[in-house]
Amino acid sequence: MTQQHSNIETARQVFLAGLTTSNTNLTYELEELANLTTANNLDPVETFTQKLERPNPATYFGKGKVEELAEAVKSYDVDMIVANDELSPSQIRNLEKATNATVLDRTGLILDIFAQRAQTKEAKLQVQLARLQYQLPRLRTSMSISLDQQTGSGGSGFTSRGSGETKLEESRRRITAQMVHIRQDLSDLKKGDTTRSARRQENDLPNVALVGYTNAGKSTLMNRLLERFGVGSNTADSKQVFEKDMLFATLNTTVRQLTLPDKKQFLLSDTVGFVSKLPHNLVAAFQSTLQEAANADLLLHVVDVSDEHHKDMMATTEKTLSEVGITDIPMITIYNKADRTELTYPELSGENAITISALDSDSQTALIDLIKKHIFNDVEVVTLHIPLDQGAVQAKLAANHTFLSESYDETGSLLTVELSKLERELFTTYIV
Ligand code: GTP
Repeated sequence: MTQQHSNIETARQVFLAGLTTSNTNLTYELEELANLTTANNLDPVETFTQKLERPNPATYFGKGKVEELAEAVKSYDVDMIVANDELSPSQIRNLEKATNATVLDRTGLILDIFAQRAQTKEAKLQVQLARLQYQLPRLRTSMSISLDQQTGSGGSGFTSRGSGETKLEESRRRITAQMVHIRQDLSDLKKGDTTRSARRQENDLPNVALVGYTNAGKSTLMNRLLERFGVGSNTADSKQVFEKDMLFATLNTTVRQLTLPDKKQFLLSDTVGFVSKLPHNLVAAFQSTLQEAANADLLLHVVDVSDEHHKDMMATTEKTLSEVGITDIPMITIYNKADRTELTYPELSGENAITISALDSDSQTALIDLIKKHIFNDVEVVTLHIPLDQGAVQAKLAANHTFLSESYDETGSLLTVELSKLERELFTTYIV
C-alpha cells in the first residue's frame, strides 16, 4: 500500500494499538491502520500489540497492556489511541478512563476518512447515516463530541460523563430523527437512480464494473480507457473520474460508455475501494453505490501487484464482495502496477487473469481484448438481408457494427456482421 503523506507538523500524534487473536495477520492490518491514520491527518508515533485469545470484553486489551498504554500516554504526551478493531462503547469508555486518552477505533477512523472524501450528495448522506448509526450507542465517549459537531447533530457535545440522562435521551431522539430524514432523502435519490439505470438497461449494453482494494488503480484504468475509447471528447461519457494517490479517493459510482474501434460498446463503472474490516454500517450505507457492481456482467478485480500485501488485499476484496452479496459474477483479475515490479506485462494468465500497467498502452489493448472475449463471447457472424424500405434498420446496425462485407441489389442490401445472441433475436427476421 502506498504511504499517505500528511502534514506531520500539524498532525496530532497518536498511538496505534492492536490485538493478535487467532486468524489475524497483524503486521498487514497495522500497516493498513497506519495508512488509514495518516490519511486522516494523524501521526502514528508508536505501536502497541498484545497477543490474546480474544479481546478483553471490558477494556479490549488485557490489564498489563492497559497499564503500559496509560504509562506511555503520560510519558510521550500523546492523548489519542487508535485501536485496530471496532470496540464496544463500554470498551472505549473503560479504556479512555484507564489511559486518560481519547480512544478512536478502526470504524470511527474509516468513517472520518469517508466523511472527508464524500463529494456527491448521495455519498455525503450515506456517510452521515453510517456515522449517526455509529454515534448512537457511543454518546458518552470522547470521540462523540467531534462526531457530534461534524455530523451537525447539534454540537452540544456529550463527552462529559456527567451529562444528564435527559440530555442524553434528547440527543438520542435527535439522532434517530435525523436518521429517518436521511433515509428518506436517500430513497428519493435512489428513485432517480433507478430511472437512470433502467435507461441504461434499455441500451442492452454489457455492464463491466471495476472493483478492488482502495488505491489499486481502478480510477486510473478507467481514465486511461476513457481517453482511448470514451464517446466524444466533450460529452459526459468521456468525462474523467477522480484519481489520486490517496485512500478512498472514489466514493461514488461513475458509469461511462466505451466504444471500441470495431464499434462494439459496453458500460464501464468505477466504484468505492475496499479495505479490511470495512465497517458494517458503512457497507450497508453504500449498498446502493455498489449496485452497479452487483448488476455487472463482468467484474474487473484490480490488484496493486507491486504491494507486498496484495494477496491479503485480494482476500479483503473477495470477502467484502461476498458480504455485500456480489457473488457468481464472472471476474477478471487485473494485476496492475506491474511497471513497479520485475513482472513482464502485458501478460495473460489463462482466461481470467492479466498482468498490466494501467499507464501502458499495450496493456490497455490486451485488457480490452480480454474483456471482449468475456462479454462478447456469444457473438456469431451472420448475413442479413435488409429490404430497401428498411433504411432505418441498416442505419441502426451501421451505428454499432462494422460490416465484414456488404453488397447491394434492387431488393436491398446484403450485410455480413457480428451479432450477439440478443441482437440475433432482435434482427432475426432479416437473417438469411
Ligand atoms: P480508490 O479511489 O481509493 O479506491 O483508488 P483507485 O483504485 O481508484 O486508485 P487510483 O486510480 O486513484 O490510483 C491510485 C494511485 O496509483 C494513483 O497515484 C495512480 O497514478 C497510481 N497508479 C494506478 N495505476 C498505476 C500503474 O499501473 N502504475 C503505476 N506506477 N501507478 C499507478
